[in-house]
Amino acid sequence: MDQDELKKQVAEAAIEYVEAGTVIGVGTGSTANFFIDALAKIKGKIDGTVASSIASAERLKGHGIPVLDLNEVGELSVYVDGADETNEQLHLIKGGGGALTREKIVAGASRKFVCICDESKLVKMLGAFPLPIEVIPMAQSFVARELVKHGGMPELRQGFTTDNGNIILDVKGMEIMEPCTLESALNNIPGIVTVGIFANRPADVLLLGTANGVKTLT
Ligand code: 5RP
Repeated sequence: MDQDELKKQVAEAAIEYVEAGTVIGVGTGSTANFFIDALAKIKGKIDGTVASSIASAERLKGHGIPVLDLNEVGELSVYVDGADETNEQLHLIKGGGGALTREKIVAGASRKFVCICDESKLVKMLGAFPLPIEVIPMAQSFVARELVKHGGMPELRQGFTTDNGNIILDVKGMEIMEPCTLESALNNIPGIVTVGIFANRPADVLLLGTANGVKTLT
């Protein structure tokens, strides 16, 4: 099975976690896109969705799936999204697609976070994938200097603006031994909007696509 087949397999498995008659959160990226396509087949069972990016909202609408404003709905029953890295504690690195801020908001507003990944995303220690950080543009140089003090090598994601009008710094060289502590420390740097470490609110369930089928970690 190639990587796309593994992504499709876990995306389809996540349909089991969709609760009928509720509003659900939907993530961003190629794995989330497979989930959106699978969701289209059961769209009549849900009341609607909240999307974590403009791109996902467009794909949902293209399938005729209602997309709602988070401010108009209460708690979401479940949030389904991919990740760039995960460890066995279900701490994640996210933001490869640049949607990390809305992803963290929608994950936070959901009772359950189901993460869907192919097995290449499972690592012992987070940080080989450059850590995405969304930053207010005027703070770029200041935040970059602060990140160097934390041992990172930040690089501006060229030609990219987030859905919120901000920039992304991708930070190489971070050995993320204590994900919760580092997430909180980086959150305290003025100018950082969102850190791509999802550890203080980790996933609740990880569906991992492997050549031997879908593995479930909780
Ligand atoms: C987007 C994300 C994605 O979940 C992450 O980049 C994984 O993407 P893919 O499913 O395409 O491998 O965090 O901001």
